Amino acid sequence: MLNRRNFLTAAVGVAAATGLAACAKDDGGSGGTGGSSGGGSKKITLGFSQVGSESGWRSANTDSVKSAAKEAGYNLKFSDAQQKQENQISAIRSFIAQKVDVIAFSPVKVTGWDAVLQEAKAAKIPVVLTDRSVETKDESLFVTLVGSDFTDEGRRAAKILEKVLEKAGHKGKVKIAQLEGTTGSAPAIERAKGFKEVMEAEHKDDWKIVVTQTGDFTRAGGKQVMAAFLQSNPDIDVLFAHNDDMAIGAIQSIEAAGKKPGKDILIVSIDGVKDGFVAMSEGKINAIVECNPLLGPQLMEVVQTVKDGGSVERWIKTKESDFMQDQAKDALPTRKY
Ligand code: AHR
Repeated sequence: MLNRRNFLTAAVGVAAATGLAACAKDDGGSGGTGGSSGGGSKKITLGFSQVGSESGWRSANTDSVKSAAKEAGYNLKFSDAQQKQENQISAIRSFIAQKVDVIAFSPVKVTGWDAVLQEAKAAKIPVVLTDRSVETKDESLFVTLVGSDFTDEGRRAAKILEKVLEKAGHKGKVKIAQLEGTTGSAPAIERAKGFKEVMEAEHKDDWKIVVTQTGDFTRAGGKQVMAAFLQSNPDIDVLFAHNDDMAIGAIQSIEAAGKKPGKDILIVSIDGVKDGFVAMSEGKINAIVECNPLLGPQLMEVVQTVKDGGSVERWIKTKESDFMQDQAKDALPTRKY
């Protein structure tokens, strides 16, 4: 099982970690115009399996991967899994059959990857995880993760909620509704865990998650589930949404119920996409914990290093910030996604 605690920053030899004979494919010689893809050797072919197009974050991530691959001069084989694990497994098998140099993917769920990753290892094709982690019995099945610390994002959401409550003058008991991301996905599991950790350590007597359900990281899901939340729990004080898109969907249901988002129901969400910032500048979201989707350039660097048989850190973490509502108007024009 992949263990995030083991995802420390100790550098590991890529060839050692994956059991790869990295040099076996290194000097392919002819074919392709390398771009920045490595000292005149043949153009790198990267197979990338994306989760889907469920959110604004995901679209920004896809654009970042595509443009960075172009910039690096790689031959990118891109596949959209439409949020289905079986589609990702088929895509990875197809990349193996095509003998790509490196496989990268953002796993829709954490479990169920061992068999296909063993096939990639047997074919001596290194695998790089981007954005999301997996649980696997054999940690040599992937080289590294390029992505965020979702548990910490959950903790940061709880900490920023303290400020939001203080600013709103809310004292005493807090009834919280949680809109979870895709069930079984790393961000849904870890964000919930990080939030709960702070809640139980610091607000055990006052904060309570009264209702929690997945909205699958989509606007439609957020809207539909929030409408149901309001039926069963009309006196919710706070919405914690695992992403901006679900928060934006939920805002529609809150308004349809005659309540003011950002006032009657305080909202904290994660991502920091432009639409989230627009909602925040309109006073409808109170705070956002950033999760940076612009992973393409880092991913391409890692792919090059891996292809060259170099060492990379086991977890290459993304740098992120938190934003309160009063920062939204100033920050909005400079948001890149
Ligand atoms: O894995 C990152 C998450 O996936 C983002 O927070 C969410 O918007 C996306 O769909």
